[in-house]
Amino acid sequence: MPNHKKQALKKVTTHQLQEMKKRGEKIAMLTAYDFSMAKIIDGAGIDVILVGDSASNVMAGNETTLPITLDQMIYHATSVVKAVARALVVVDIPFGYYQGSSGEALRSSIRIMKESGAHAVKIEGGSEVKDSVLRILSAGVPVMGHLGLTPQSIYKFGTYSVRAKEEVEANKLIEDAQLLQECGCFGVVLEKIPAELAKKVAEQLQIPVIGIGAGPDVDGQVLVMQDMLGINKEFKPRFLRRYADLHGVITGAIGKYIEDVKAKEFPNQQEKY
Ligand code: KIV
Repeated sequence: MPNHKKQALKKVTTHQLQEMKKRGEKIAMLTAYDFSMAKIIDGAGIDVILVGDSASNVMAGNETTLPITLDQMIYHATSVVKAVARALVVVDIPFGYYQGSSGEALRSSIRIMKESGAHAVKIEGGSEVKDSVLRILSAGVPVMGHLGLTPQSIYKFGTYSVRAKEEVEANKLIEDAQLLQECGCFGVVLEKIPAELAKKVAEQLQIPVIGIGAGPDVDGQVLVMQDMLGINKEFKPRFLRRYADLHGVITGAIGKYIEDVKAKEFPNQQEKY
């Protein structure tokens, strides 16, 4: 079999994610926003890369995800897609590009898919976005849902604290998750909700449920890469595990570089032409 065909067979698809859920194999998902980091995490074997609108926070320095534009998301997604050989690439449709009408949602999705080459889109919300989800799916674009803490609604919630602790909100979340599955979503992200509720949703749904701050009993986990690599020191929610202290590593390396330049130790005889 030619090499490129073998490669193609190894690519992660939405169908494979469903199979992983059936076999009880957990799905590992991380965010990425640029070529270099996407290449590293794809090479490390991540299953799904999310070009999240958290780029608004971690790349652009905004306080919320609201300001990022569709053009900016497409720029990030295009850079990520170029780096990825295996992972499924999912792109957030940013705030203001799908809430207006299902036609707007479809146009935004088509732009993302056509211009970036990504494999799927993600949108926040349940019954409120049903028409948009259906319209996007009707064009053959895979959709991932996102329930619980939905950061695009931060000014409605007023805080980033745990969602769906009360029965009414928990029941609405369960109904929304069912609805997204019925519409044809290939997966759902549950953000910052009680672990017991997330477990219940994951047990009820046939599609994969990916958690962030939703406990261990879901089908996979997602984290923002800058947070789990310890680049961003200020963000310390309980659910976050830091797998590295890149802030320390980078600060140390840059400090050493500055020292070497000032001491005229860089470049040395071997480092010149
Ligand atoms: O934008 C993002 O990074 C996300 C994850 C937190 C799920 O939506």
